[in-house]
Amino acid sequence: MKFMKTILSGIQPSGRPHIGNYFGMMKQMIDMQKEALVYALIVDYHALNSIQDAEKMREFTRDVVVDYLALGFDAEKNVLFKQSDVQEHTELAWIFDTITTMPYLMRGHAYKDAEAKGKEVSVGTFNYPMLMAADILLYSPDIIPVGQDQKQHVEFTRDTAEKFNRIYGETFKLPESLVIEDLQTVPGVDGRKMSKSYNNYISLFAEDSEIEEKVMGIVTDSSGERPENVYAIHRLLKSEEELKPIYEENIGSYKKLKEMLIEDLKAFIAPMREKRAAIAGDENRVREVLEKGAERAREVAAQKMQEVKKAIGVI
Ligand code: TYM
Repeated sequence: MKFMKTILSGIQPSGRPHIGNYFGMMKQMIDMQKEALVYALIVDYHALNSIQDAEKMREFTRDVVVDYLALGFDAEKNVLFKQSDVQEHTELAWIFDTITTMPYLMRGHAYKDAEAKGKEVSVGTFNYPMLMAADILLYSPDIIPVGQDQKQHVEFTRDTAEKFNRIYGETFKLPESLVIEDLQTVPGVDGRKMSKSYNNYISLFAEDSEIEEKVMGIVTDSSGERPENVYAIHRLLKSEEELKPIYEENIGSYKKLKEMLIEDLKAFIAPMREKRAAIAGDENRVREVLEKGAERAREVAAQKMQEVKKAIGVI
């Protein structure tokens, strides 16, 4: 028990998760939960940059809890909690702001993308990586399972920890990100990164009709031997060896391959969707899980914050 690794990752409550979130992050959390202490964080304050509607915020937050429970997350052994329940996250983020420069944060991919699109970037979006660094460093985790798009944020976290340690003395442990090689970026139905904002996703708990519609809509190009966008999603569910004969037998027959993918996705999603439906109405369970999670997280975060406050000389 003593040498158990600590795993931490977060997800924004910004709508229902898709299979990209699952294979990029949630699956790793579930797979590791027996032999590690897992902190599963719902980053509602991060999501405030895009969700500015109280009802939606409540609903989406509650949804993430139900999603995790439906996937089999053990909230008794591990810690499922929301960021806003632990005030140390925003408190530590401020302290990190004071040791971080604007040019450094301007290197952030998320910031650069928003700038390139001509969007007016909120201060919250600009400082996003500092709140994420606080999320992570309060709990001294060993590993952060994330998709490729979050790797830079974990690098920023490491840099920030190093910088703090250099200025104020050894305080934070440097975490490693875990990006599963094959699944760095799960592609969407148009071949770009699967993302809520591109509307190219397949929901993790999709109804059969959504699966059919989305898969039939996968963009295929006729130049290659196999439809890469179909194959890339299929690869999430089956090994290369299993897929090889199927794709060889059906060269050129994209419709057939799509139908096979539909069957495999249905078989994969249906049991999880049913489990989710059975839990979804249980408001009490959701509340209890979050209360318990907050209590356990607060204890660890408060202790780390005491160390930080001593280090910077405010106590
Ligand atoms: P978020 O909410 O955008 O996404 C949650 C997780 O899903 C992964 N992901 C993907 N992985 C593979 N392929 C895809 N197409 C795909 N789309 C999303 C993301 O990489 C992520 O791991 N900043 C984070 C949340 C966060 C966090 C943290 C993560 C806040 N604090 C502390 C780890 C540790 C985010 O916006 O993830």
